[in-house]
Amino acid sequence: MIKQAIIPLAGLGTRLLPLTSVFAKELLPINGKPGIEYILDECIEAGIKEIIFIISKKKQMIKSYFYNDIFYKKIIKKKKDPRIIKEYKKILKYKKMIRFVYQNKPLGTGDAVLKTKKYITDKYFLMLLPDDLIIKKNCSKSMINIHKKLKSSVIASMKVNRKSVNRWGIYKLGKKIDKNNFLIKDVVEKPSIKKAPSNQAVIGRYILPKIIFSKLLKQKPGKGGEIHITDAIQLLINQNKKFVAHNFSGKYLDCGSMQGYINSTLEISKI
Ligand code: G1P
Repeated sequence: MIKQAIIPLAGLGTRLLPLTSVFAKELLPINGKPGIEYILDECIEAGIKEIIFIISKKKQMIKSYFYNDIFYKKIIKKKKDPRIIKEYKKILKYKKMIRFVYQNKPLGTGDAVLKTKKYITDKYFLMLLPDDLIIKKNCSKSMINIHKKLKSSVIASMKVNRKSVNRWGIYKLGKKIDKNNFLIKDVVEKPSIKKAPSNQAVIGRYILPKIIFSKLLKQKPGKGGEIHITDAIQLLINQNKKFVAHNFSGKYLDCGSMQGYINSTLEISKI
């Protein structure tokens, strides 16, 4: 069973400036609800019991959102508003599941994962990147089911426009398992159009093996001087570790860019 999830939240959110100059992008409302709550709900519905948030000192606001008990208690005492009581109960439920760790320098997703090393107890864990919302079908839940069947690592994937391959982790397709699941032969972080092995992109849901920490510990910075999880995955693939790409059936929303963020509110309001 996959019981733990990690969520890297220390990113600067420069693509959403000026909103992110004073605000954590993961708390920005999407159709009236902070983006991070969609991610938390996906985890809870998929059976996750513990969630590790990797934040930074600059993103302390995220912790405050879940630790505002005194404020809520005062308001509820005065107002007894059922809506506020319900919202507070929901926040308390989230708070009980979340542990916070810090990544104060934005050194990449791989470095963020490494910060959770001492808290990961099981052989596999889930990672969700909060810029990537997947609606209409719980992608984490589907991936956990595939993991149960195949006992392998699983990564969410989607075909992208060939011209945009340098925005994503791109992988080379291996053997077909079934209609929506394939083995990954190789994976490369943000390749040029010329060097891209395909237009199959990695999307921000990963079921990773605990042994990935041993690779991350020794890993040198890659593209852009960052420690990429993609590079650690490639090192494991080189050792014949099985990684399955899952072409998810939900709808993907890119909340990390301004256009995508605006669009995600429109899409979610239609459901
Ligand atoms: C990260 C990963 C990349 C992946 C993408 C999915 O990139 O490094 O491999 O394709 O998430 O959203 P980032 O969006 O942090 O640049």
